[in-house]
Amino acid sequence: MLKRQGEHVPGAELARALGISRAALWKRISSLRKRGLAIEAARGRGYRLAGVPDLSPEVLRASVRGALGRRVVFIDTVDSTNEIAMGLAASGAAHGTVVLAGSQKKGKGRLGRRWVSPAGCNIYMSVVLRPEVRPREAGILTLVAAVAAAAALKDVASLDVRIKWPNDLIVSGRKVGGILTEVRSEPDRILHAVVGVGINVNMKAGDFPRDLRDSATSVFMETGRMHSRTELAAAVLNVLDGEFRSFRQKGSGPLLARLRGLSSTLGKEVSVAAGTETFTGVAEDLDDEGCLVLKGPEGTRRICSGDVTHLRETGNA
Ligand code: BTN
Repeated sequence: MLKRQGEHVPGAELARALGISRAALWKRISSLRKRGLAIEAARGRGYRLAGVPDLSPEVLRASVRGALGRRVVFIDTVDSTNEIAMGLAASGAAHGTVVLAGSQKKGKGRLGRRWVSPAGCNIYMSVVLRPEVRPREAGILTLVAAVAAAAALKDVASLDVRIKWPNDLIVSGRKVGGILTEVRSEPDRILHAVVGVGINVNMKAGDFPRDLRDSATSVFMETGRMHSRTELAAAVLNVLDGEFRSFRQKGSGPLLARLRGLSSTLGKEVSVAAGTETFTGVAEDLDDEGCLVLKGPEGTRRICSGDVTHLRETGNA
């Protein structure tokens, strides 16, 4: 009833509608306030919902349509949401459990990098998945999440996001978000996976450390508008749910077709640092497992994990 944002609703009316006593109503209002909902009380007029925080686990839970996000574990400050989600998954957390944080002290990027995670402005979210894929196919989960995040940013903020293989979400040449997938496997099957999604939502240019100012951006910086983190997180979960189901039912074909259309890597001359080696060539295509097919001076090579640097366009994209 308090969804009638802005209007006062008498306490007696609320208690009656909920079938609880006035004392129980008071307890419920206090608990909602503790969770961040701004509920005002005015003598003789009742209660009024003055505002919903832009990151609300309750609203997120209520906004998801599929299996992802039915359980949301919200922790204000964590070292890394991926770490918490891996721990929950190891103790049996269900497929779709989401860990959401207001800030991270040790946010992790790919390849051991840090992920700058200040409070109050961005999305730091990790999703527990229990995929029926072999360990060698785990890389595809990153691609599923990257395609979902790009589609959600298009829907919610009208942003044209490109994907730099495998996990960078790029707008106008700068990074607006990234995906970090971690898995626990046995030799022939994945026990569980955690897909971590970081999106710079309402961060201002001056909030980035100096070394990232030329390469990073945020939804706010690209659109000039603040966005609800809850709405964006819900869109990511809903699209991810659909992409993940499609991948399970139809395999990687449709996903890779969408990814080809969003890729900023294909058709470029690139260098790829993979382990101790670096390969240079043209990023020709993606294979069925989402690995990069690189055509170099020594022939065609398949690369499933690596750090890509774009060198130049080749004109055959
Ligand atoms: C990258 O682009 O290198 C990946 C960045 C992934 C960041 C997210 S934020 C939520 C989750 N928790 C982490 O510690 N990392 C991921």
